[in-house]
Amino acid sequence: MAARRVARFAIGSAAVVAGAYFYTEVAGCNYLGVDDLKGQVFILTGATHPGIGKETARELAKQGGTVILAAKNMDRCHQARRDLIYSNKYSTREVECRSLDLKSLRSVRKFVDDLPKDLKLTAVINTAESVKKTQREETHDGLEKQMGVSHFGHFLLTRLLMDKYKDDGRWRIVSVTYPSSGQSSMNFADINSEVKYDPQAVYKQAKLATLLTTLELGKRFDDNPNITANAVYPGLCNTEVFRHVMGNQPFLARLLLQPVLRMMFTSPEKACQSVLFAVLSPKLTNVSGKYINECRIIELPSEASVNAESARKLWDLSEQVVADPSKFVASQTAAAQKLAA
Ligand SMILES: NC(=O)c1ccc[n+]([C@@H]2O[C@H](COP(=O)([O-])OP(=O)(O)OC[C@H]3O[C@@H](n4cnc5c(N)ncnc54)[C@H](OP(=O)(O)O)[C@@H]3O)[C@@H](O)[C@H]2O)c1
Repeated sequence: MAARRVARFAIGSAAVVAGAYFYTEVAGCNYLGVDDLKGQVFILTGATHPGIGKETARELAKQGGTVILAAKNMDRCHQARRDLIYSNKYSTREVECRSLDLKSLRSVRKFVDDLPKDLKLTAVINTAESVKKTQREETHDGLEKQMGVSHFGHFLLTRLLMDKYKDDGRWRIVSVTYPSSGQSSMNFADINSEVKYDPQAVYKQAKLATLLTTLELGKRFDDNPNITANAVYPGLCNTEVFRHVMGNQPFLARLLLQPVLRMMFTSPEKACQSVLFAVLSPKLTNVSGKYINECRIIELPSEASVNAESARKLWDLSEQVVADPSKFVASQTAAAQKLAA
């Protein structure tokens, strides 16, 4: 009797593990294109941790591409570079680290200034983000940090690259994001979170900003079909982001949750497939302003993210912010003080 119960439990457990493995590692898309990327250049932000950006970089380097890791922490970047070269069995050494701190608009400008003019750019892949903090933090320019890094930093990077390489053949802008819930919308009145800081709401807002910017890029630059912009949702993935989330949990919760997360969330290797699709697939040659998941175009996830008026407003505001952040911060502070008075 007991033996039968044990056997039933063992079979049940094996089925759950196999199901979870299938769900995370076998199901989902694989980008199967075989590309010779020799001579093509890819710029990636957020590719220093064992996450989605780094796995994308590994695949691009494996196929012969030249990979520029745009990174804030240069020690970590050089470590990532060595790992990418080693794991590709030294078949390529075309992996380069360049300094880029997205929480400094000056650093973004310097990064683009320092790039050679004759770069054969194939894609810029924006995956960096600032991890949610319980307390509000600011960038070097006084911008709330999550919006500052994920949105304003990438916005300036994209605009400067578009200016510098506007006549340089076809290339793509691919931004990795997370679908915002139906309720989230841009809080234009307090976009710098000076009145109220809610880390979760700001995270959603930063991710929505990426989607709206992609939408607007697709519209504003449809007269320049050489540069396309699309956003990618890679699926839930077991990366450093989750290690940060786990770090806040008590020991016992971490012990119990870690294996569950490992089973439920896909690996970075699997999650990067949709990013590779957006970067490389010939199916997307003239496609812009779209949202990609599971290696295909899908509908944008919420009403807020297809709101053309918000997209235009955010674009205009972002142009002003990156041009003169201190003027923007002063106006936000004044508005917050007026509200508090
Ligand atoms: N993981 C998921 O389940 C999931 C799901 C949907 C969407 N996504 C999106 O996918 C993207 C990548 O996620 P991930 O989990 O792979 O992230 P991750 O492993 O935590 O990587 C975040 C990266 O951002 C970089 N970064 C942070 N601040 C920076 C700054 N000021 N300047 C330059 N780089 C900076 C970090 O580099 P340093 O720390 O070395 O500076 C790191 O390489 C994110 O945009 C995320 O929203 C993730």
